[in-house]
Amino acid sequence: MTTPDENSSPGYATARAFCITSACWMVIGAFVGLLGATELIAPDIAKNIGWLVFGRIRPIHINVVLFGFVTPGLLAAAFYYFPRLLRCELFSEKLGVFTVWVWNLTLVAAVISLAGGHTQGREYAELIWPIDVMVVAAFGLVFFNMVMTVRRRTEPLLYVSIWYGLAATILTAAVYALGNVIWRPDSGALAGMADAVILWFYGHSIFNLLLTPLAAGIAYYVIPRVVLSPLYSHRLAMLGFWSLMLVAPQIGTSHLLQVPLPTWLKVIAIADSIAMAIPVMAFLINIWYTAKGRLGEIHADIGAKFVFTGTIMYFFASLQGAVMALPQVQRVTHFNNWVVGHAHIGVLGFAGMIALGGMYYILPRITGKQLYSRLLADFQYWMVLIGVVGFTVVLTIAGMTQGNAWLNGHAVYRVLPMVHVYYIVRAALGLMLFTSAIVGLYNILRTLLSNPGGTP
Ligand code: HEM
Ligand code: HEM
Repeated sequence: MTTPDENSSPGYATARAFCITSACWMVIGAFVGLLGATELIAPDIAKNIGWLVFGRIRPIHINVVLFGFVTPGLLAAAFYYFPRLLRCELFSEKLGVFTVWVWNLTLVAAVISLAGGHTQGREYAELIWPIDVMVVAAFGLVFFNMVMTVRRRTEPLLYVSIWYGLAATILTAAVYALGNVIWRPDSGALAGMADAVILWFYGHSIFNLLLTPLAAGIAYYVIPRVVLSPLYSHRLAMLGFWSLMLVAPQIGTSHLLQVPLPTWLKVIAIADSIAMAIPVMAFLINIWYTAKGRLGEIHADIGAKFVFTGTIMYFFASLQGAVMALPQVQRVTHFNNWVVGHAHIGVLGFAGMIALGGMYYILPRITGKQLYSRLLADFQYWMVLIGVVGFTVVLTIAGMTQGNAWLNGHAVYRVLPMVHVYYIVRAALGLMLFTSAIVGLYNILRTLLSNPGGTP
């Protein structure tokens, strides 16, 4: 099974705009993360400056990296491969660029409102109602543009990347609205346990139904192209897609194993967390077998190098996720830095790496010239790799220290000195990641702006 060939040559204004958006917000997101990490080392550093306290900085960091850096980076590549795989022009580049403006306006509103203390106080669903509506509208606009492009296609075959792109955007619009209880503007919440269930149904769906399908779509596009080989198996790709759709939505409840929920809900969550092995391995085997024996080609293309490394990180994030969903393990890992380590290997190591890879893959193709600096891109690659592996190591050790100490009855204030050193290493790694984000922004801007009218 081959990927369809390409013959369209639109201006890719939307893909360009999403690239700039992602690169800029990566710098801001990494900076805010660094600020949060510094406050965890020196809690008095921001004194009583309201908008700088950790409780406000943390949701700003999370919302900015998720919706500012990773998602737009992934969408940039999607807006490149949709017209090419469908052999037609994008339905509307104007609508695409308008969407990017709405997107950025939403992010600015999110940062200002969170910094000002306006929050609905639910993790990953902190944003207040008007901004929730803007997020849903932005995803709706992306989906509309994509689906209208599918309608005008000249290629009858819908390659698996198209399935993933469409599913990710429409499901996120729906799941975001549900998880943010958008029909209750005042609180954005249900009552009691039902609220926890719906929140975490949405919470982990952001990773499994937004970031994962978008990232998988890019890997399925980039890897066969770079290694100049057909995809290993279209059937396996379909198995991966449908099993993800079936299994992933139930994982969220595995965040709630420690709370008084009906046991059958927890059993489904645990069973499905383990069953995630099916979509995860179907995707990974397909990509890795496609690349088998051709790692040289992947090494030579910086975009593919990021993407391929992202698939390896996906393996580790998923393995870790399945282990964390076992109640005996979660008794130790819950509510501590182990989970923060998992979050960074998943969101940055897997989805973030693939977002960067997608952008570096499309940049020379949408500008019609080489990347401004391969050296700088390689620098960023190594910094992100060292940063994310380093984060995982120190946060896992810190998490296990915290978890075991708490199980042994130690008070939190006695455990904090034990993990202080890991917090310092995390901040040092964060400084490295922040620097690499600035380098990435510079490289991406120089590549894009030096040839604004290029053709692929
Ligand atoms: C087989 C796949 C996966 C499983 C079974 C899984 C399972 C879990 C579980 C059980 C938790 C909650 C742990 C706790 O609170 O004690 C969690 C948290 C988290 N997961 Fe995953 N995970 C998987 C893959 C991923 C991937 C691929 C990503 C990123 C793209 C990701 C991102 C996150 C994040 C950000 C959190 C932290 C949420 C919070 O703030 O509490 N996970 N995961
Ligand atoms: C730019 C890519 C990054 C991504 C995609 C990312 C992603 C995330 C995510 C998903 C969480 C939520 C974790 C959870 O709820 O369990 C988080 C928390 C956090 N991140 Fe990042 N992050 C990035 C960069 C950084 C950097 C450069 C630093 C600097 C050290 C940093 C420091 C933190 C801190 C301190 C937290 C809060 C941890 C806590 O609540 O204990 N992050 N990040």
